[in-house]
Amino acid sequence: MSSEPKLADAAYRSLAERALIGDHPTIVKLRALVDRVAVTDATVLITGESGSGKEVVAGAIHALSARAKRAFVPVNCAAIPHELLESEMFGHERGAFTGAAAPRHGLFSTADGGTIFLDEIGEMPAQLQAKLLRVLEDGIVRPVGSDRASRVDARVIAASNNDLVAAVKKGVFREDLFYRLQVVPIIIPPLRERRSDIPLLVEYFLDRMRQRMPGREWSVSREAMVNLWSYDWPGNVRELENMVERLVILCEDSVIDVDVLPANLTASTRMAETRIPATLDDKGVNLNLLVRELEGRMINEALKHTGGNKQAAARLLGLKRTTFSAKLRRCGVIAPTGPNDRDDS
Ligand SMILES: Nc1ncnc2c1ncn2[C@@H]1O[C@H](COP(=O)(O)OP(=O)(O)OP(=O)(O)O)[C@@H](O)[C@H]1O
Ligand SMILES: [Mg+2]
Repeated sequence: MSSEPKLADAAYRSLAERALIGDHPTIVKLRALVDRVAVTDATVLITGESGSGKEVVAGAIHALSARAKRAFVPVNCAAIPHELLESEMFGHERGAFTGAAAPRHGLFSTADGGTIFLDEIGEMPAQLQAKLLRVLEDGIVRPVGSDRASRVDARVIAASNNDLVAAVKKGVFREDLFYRLQVVPIIIPPLRERRSDIPLLVEYFLDRMRQRMPGREWSVSREAMVNLWSYDWPGNVRELENMVERLVILCEDSVIDVDVLPANLTASTRMAETRIPATLDDKGVNLNLLVRELEGRMINEALKHTGGNKQAAARLLGLKRTTFSAKLRRCGVIAPTGPNDRDDS
């Protein structure tokens, strides 16, 4: 690589930026970080729940980097059997192990000049962690069964959806490798902590459906959108993406309304109601959780009632405008600006 990284061309740049959708403050910051880190060769460790966009972020870093025209090579460390992972990554010599009939290049060589994305790095076996650390340190790859070493210039981006810090503490992930990987740590918040992006993402996925089915048009009713906001999305953006596709298929006309939402989605807005017990038994309750659930539900109800007008919603709940805004932020519910709403907090 040249020591002076150039930005990828404009077309590639906008393509990469478009894929990382969201204008929640955490995503705006994330995009700025992606921009800054893309022009360096620093190793990046991306952490986030399943489906939160780790590969999207890794792809964006690559696409915005001077390596954009070379390969982006994802390796899922959890999907490849442990005994094969080393040869997948570093290649092997003929006869290095049973079944190695011909020599083979590893994925690090494929990523030479480009980026290798080591997904689910926490699943990498200990012995391979040591080898990876050496590769990161001296840039030299040695195929399995070979005494020939070669230099590779692959930028490493790693990702994990579990807590690598805990794995380090437990002694199942090497501490030195952890620090070597997270030169730049990037944490992607789960979708439930950036609910204000849900309408934007829904629109983005609807748009993609429109491209796939030209001539068709869909919109989401306000009530259905309130349900989409309230749901916790354990599968994050991927779950939302699949849900939009499913809703488009299920809805008979052009408006996606609550009647096509699956029960677990509509249930989330009713959850507080059903979970709040009339009396207390020996099991007890988590009072903080109940209060939060009730607050979230009332806020959603009030916004629904007032067509998204936050001033009126605050009045309906007997709250000061500022208190209401603080609660909105705490619950992660930031309503899209309604037609009568001039406040943009
Ligand atoms: N911010 C985003 N904007 C647009 N699409 C997104 C965004 N985040 C995620 N997606 C989409 O959601 C899906 C899941 O994203 P991705 O594969 O990057 O998640 P992940 O964190 O790598 O998940 P896993 O842990 O399961 O590997 C993809 O189809 C991706 O395009
Ligand atoms: Mg992934």
